[in-house]
Amino acid sequence: MNSEIEKTVEFRIHRFDPKEKRRYVSTFKVPVRKGMTLLDALMYIKDNFDESLAFRHSCRMGICGSCGIMVNGKPMLACYTQVLHLNVDTLTLEPLQNMPVIKDLVVDLEPFFGTYRKIKNVLIKSEETFKKPEEFIQMPSELKKFWDLTLCTKCSICYSACPAAIDERFLGPSTLATNYRFITDSRDEGSNERLKTIAENVWLCTSCNSCTLFCPKEVDSSSSIVNERSLIVETGVIPRTVMEVLNNIFKYHNPMGRYQTKRMEWAQGLNVKTFPETAKAEVLYFVCCLTAYDPRHQEIAKSMASVFSTLGVDFASLGAEEWCCGDHMLRLGERGLFETLAEHNLSMFQKFETEKIVTLSPHCYNTFNNDKPYSDAGLNVQHYTQFVAEAMDQGKLKPTKPFSQRVVYHDPCFLGKRNEIYEAPRRILEAINGLELVEMRRTRENSFCCGGGAGRVWTEDAPPEKRPCISRVKEALELGVQIIATSCPFCVSLLDDATKVLEVEDKIKVKDVVEILKETM
Ligand code: FES
Repeated sequence: MNSEIEKTVEFRIHRFDPKEKRRYVSTFKVPVRKGMTLLDALMYIKDNFDESLAFRHSCRMGICGSCGIMVNGKPMLACYTQVLHLNVDTLTLEPLQNMPVIKDLVVDLEPFFGTYRKIKNVLIKSEETFKKPEEFIQMPSELKKFWDLTLCTKCSICYSACPAAIDERFLGPSTLATNYRFITDSRDEGSNERLKTIAENVWLCTSCNSCTLFCPKEVDSSSSIVNERSLIVETGVIPRTVMEVLNNIFKYHNPMGRYQTKRMEWAQGLNVKTFPETAKAEVLYFVCCLTAYDPRHQEIAKSMASVFSTLGVDFASLGAEEWCCGDHMLRLGERGLFETLAEHNLSMFQKFETEKIVTLSPHCYNTFNNDKPYSDAGLNVQHYTQFVAEAMDQGKLKPTKPFSQRVVYHDPCFLGKRNEIYEAPRRILEAINGLELVEMRRTRENSFCCGGGAGRVWTEDAPPEKRPCISRVKEALELGVQIIATSCPFCVSLLDDATKVLEVEDKIKVKDVVEILKETM
């Protein structure tokens, strides 16, 4: 490597000495040239500064999958990432997560590879195949479904990024994607056996999308898991908690099993206009099931209504005709039920004349924008944080009362990781006088899921220490904040529960950003 030195980058490496059982950080300044990868930099450090530094590698070409490390909070392959592409002057390197550290940046991969022992990682064939071979010859078109899934190098990066992997029952994204790879392979005849293996644990995935986001080979494990769930739902053999949610949606059009006629209870005394009496408004306010029915979450719905009123915005709700958006049904694998809900909501949107739909929940926002048939309808949808931040930018809204609290913001996965909305909620909080906004170690794209996505908010059965929300609240407690702010009703629900389980409700409160905003107006 003879090119010019472009800059000097400081490497802060989190280390572990297994003999002394000591954790410490070493700092090295590395001259970086064009094309230098993180692995090259680690080798430079080993050759020039500290030969005891331990890290793993083999092929140096992104094939063996052995050089995975955490880089500024994100898991990535060291040989596959150029230092200059990261565009920073300081890099913090840590070992991958969810696996025990052996030494420095080397982890024990046994928890990850152990999950492969639980599935059959070879073709399953029946006797019939060999009796009538002419019926079992596959055409290329039948075989191409699983091609993308064969790109997996088993580097364990998805496992390291997965919030559900803190529960050892969960097989992890790449193992589930491999299982699906065989299901989609027309040479394999073991679908039933494969579905039985995952029937209980596949529901632990929260659809946070970290696996797909960080995969160096762009394997979409997240979608594979949803597809596997769909196949399990078709068999009808599903856990009781999942069945209850699906039944509630089927009968009542909301996951909580409440009557649609009670859907406007949240707005009692507020004089909110509703469909069909009102069929035209500047903003159609889509409230979401949890915020409409649950007394704790109704406060969030009321807060946003009050922000609309302060802004003088003409807004209305679909009232009893607002059905669940269906996001959780889709991710639970019940596409049919999702489509029923979508068709109803879309027919209501057609009847209602409005400039835009504003949602409280990132899940409604995401599904309206990204999932067919909603995404084909050309809807103009904003999450409320976008709407409020825009109003603030235009000088229409200014929080006036001081709010002297130390606050940390938790990024909801369906707002952040899935839609890259990181700034709008922070801009709102930063505009509040006296509010001290701090960041968690795992933030923005690296944020750690609360554990409530993909219907898990309704179906959670893990013991407390295995719930992602507990880990998240502990992380916030380390910062000495008084408030965890977020902008998703499901995050509020799960994080609130975690403060109760940890018995820290007196120390730390969970609030939606719009609740804090309302207090300052
Ligand atoms: Fe083989 Fe990086 S060394 S993938």
